Amino acid sequence: MGKDFISTSEIVGESKHFYDYQTLVCEEHGEFMSATFTLKGESRATSCPVCVSHKRDYDYIKQRKEQEQENQLAAIKAVINRAAIPPSFEHCTFDNYVIYAGETQARVVNNLRSFAENFAQVKTKNIHGILTGSTGTGKTHLAAAIINELINRGYTAVFATMSDIVNTIQSTFANKAQSKQSVIKRFIDIDLLIIDEGAVTNRDFDRNEIFDIINTRYNLKHPTLLITNIIDDLKTKLGDRVISRMQQGKFVQVFNWDDYRLKSSNHSGV
Ligand SMILES: Nc1ncnc2c1ncn2[C@@H]1O[C@H](COP(=O)(O)OP(=O)(O)OP(=O)(O)O)[C@@H](O)[C@H]1O
Ligand SMILES: [Mg+2]
Ligand SMILES: [Zn+2]
Repeated sequence: MGKDFISTSEIVGESKHFYDYQTLVCEEHGEFMSATFTLKGESRATSCPVCVSHKRDYDYIKQRKEQEQENQLAAIKAVINRAAIPPSFEHCTFDNYVIYAGETQARVVNNLRSFAENFAQVKTKNIHGILTGSTGTGKTHLAAAIINELINRGYTAVFATMSDIVNTIQSTFANKAQSKQSVIKRFIDIDLLIIDEGAVTNRDFDRNEIFDIINTRYNLKHPTLLITNIIDDLKTKLGDRVISRMQQGKFVQVFNWDDYRLKSSNHSGV
């Protein structure tokens, strides 16, 4: 579809140029009458009218999709008061993630990169997952890289901490303009939701709200990734039901290497 299509209507304005007709064959749609003419000394011919119309539809749908993505991201921004990624992680990509711990680390990065690059398949297979490991190993960095990649590919993807979600839901209690259901729907509709455990304590929130979001996303085949330092902590916060569901897809990425910040102070070049 990337071809330079010329439609008959485009040459009307060029009527001062002499043009003629010839029969051409489109590989897909067979024979058609093509108008040939000369533009700026170059000889041109109009393209297959079916292809031209498909291209127009394609452009229109693409534009509509982009508009929809923009609207959804704007809506989530209004809900969590920031863009899809926290400002300090906006620059994070797969390319600026340094591999310093060998094979294991390379494999995890590879798995996450292919999660993002094959997201259409990830959705059909209903893959959900957990990123787990100690502090400073780059879980949030790679989560942001996934989100950047998906947004570039036209998906809606959001990084939220548990407290983002809990606070957002709680804020609706005092706000007549936004219902709890409409806020929950925002978190359910987006293509990928990454939830970082963050520093939420056990009694801070109603685990049912988050369970409902994850569970509904699961039923709709909208993937969710959970980030935690320790999977058992997540179990006490969200309950076994959620975690077993997330583990059953077997997409559990373990970040078991040293803190990047300690590493980089040892290696000045990194
Ligand atoms: N391999 C790496 N290459 C480049 N930068 C990295 C790498 N690992 C981590 N960083 C950077 O180090 C900082 C800490 O990483 P990050 O916040 O992603 O760790 P984390 O695993 O999420 O830690 P925590 O469990 O404490 O949340 C970030 O600024 C991140 O961009
Ligand atoms: Mg983190
Ligand atoms: Zn054609």
